Amino acid sequence: LLPHCPSLTKRHFKGHRDAVTSVDFSLNKKQLASGSMDSCLMIWSMRPQMRAYRFMGHKDAVMCVQFSPSGHLVASGSRDKTVRLWVPSVKGESTVFKAHTGTVRSVHFSSDGQSLVTASDDKTIKVWTVHRQKFLFSLSQHINWVRCAKFSPDGRLIVSASDDKTVKLWDKTSRECIHSFCEHGGFVNHVDFHPSGTCIAAAGTDNTVKVWDVRMNRLLQHYQVHSAVVNSLSFHPSGNYLVTASNDSTLKILDLLEGRLLYTLHGHQGPATCVAFSRTGDFFASGGSDEQVMVWKTNFDAADYGDVLKTQKSGTSVDGTHHSQVGQNHHHQQDEETIANTLEHIVGQLDVLTQTVSILEQRLTLTEDKLKECLENQQKIIQNKVN
Ligand SMILES: *[C@@H]1O[C@H](CO)[C@@H](O)[C@H](O)[C@H]1NC(C)=O
Repeated sequence: LLPHCPSLTKRHFKGHRDAVTSVDFSLNKKQLASGSMDSCLMIWSMRPQMRAYRFMGHKDAVMCVQFSPSGHLVASGSRDKTVRLWVPSVKGESTVFKAHTGTVRSVHFSSDGQSLVTASDDKTIKVWTVHRQKFLFSLSQHINWVRCAKFSPDGRLIVSASDDKTVKLWDKTSRECIHSFCEHGGFVNHVDFHPSGTCIAAAGTDNTVKVWDVRMNRLLQHYQVHSAVVNSLSFHPSGNYLVTASNDSTLKILDLLEGRLLYTLHGHQGPATCVAFSRTGDFFASGGSDEQVMVWKTNFDAADYGDVLKTQKSGTSVDGTHHSQVGQNHHHQQDEETIANTLEHIVGQLDVLTQTVSILEQRLTLTEDKLKECLENQQKIIQNKVN
């Protein structure tokens, strides 16, 4: 096995009694929250020998969990249509509010910790204050379930993903939809902002992961690496990697700089439903239909990056197979050659066109001259007749 294989330091957390739907680390990495179809929220301690808390309160499946930026609160959304804000300590106190008229699929804190955005099967996205959970406004242009909604890192934009096959970008101040990305061939399960705020990545039931630039609203990357629906994704805080979870039971780590698959990780039995990097990026957690939560150690810090690249170049992967090239981002060199050839061809064609135009111009001039001559002749004939 490779020295930087992330699966070497995998840890299992067992306690949920149904599929895990969501995982999130606290800022200080001391705690991990998970939500499950079993209606419970669990808070796991990352220190060995510390017991986990099981929080009960939701009356139906917990679909999403997230720590507040400070780590003092955990928000959860449920099929019971409510959102709960929990204090992640022994007592597990929570406040509850009815947020939607359908399942709450997604909750997300703004990075200042002041606002919360929720997304629901009722087709709306709603924004709330965290303090007293005051409703601020809703965004309602999706025409099917909204699976996910996130604030941009600067809090000015909101991105949402829906079963109407679109990803929408919203201006939080004007509350207007500023762009719809329609390149997905299926429902869009998950979306998130790149840490820089300049890009978004979305995962869908068409098995793809797509990355768009949100300044030019342009598709940048397209990964077709999973063999089943992609349920979840998370950016590494460096912005250089993306981890994805799929119904094909694997997690995959994508190298965004190289535009290719770096690792395929096997662990879950059956669909991998959720995945999230820790806020410092040295761990990520995943959840599955197998009721398990797993924590994986990464080696993406600067010192190891060169080694990871070397590993990849040798063509070996964690699961011992050779990775074929990925999606549309395969083989840069070959692509560059193809582009150069195409450009040369286009320039050649332009030359031909230019020549053609100049020949046409000459002909036109000739024709005009001929026409003038004809007209003059005609005039002469007419004049002669009149005379
Ligand atoms: C993916 O797996 C989940 C959990 O088993 C299942 O409910 C869902 O229908 C699957 N999605 C597809 C498109 O197969």
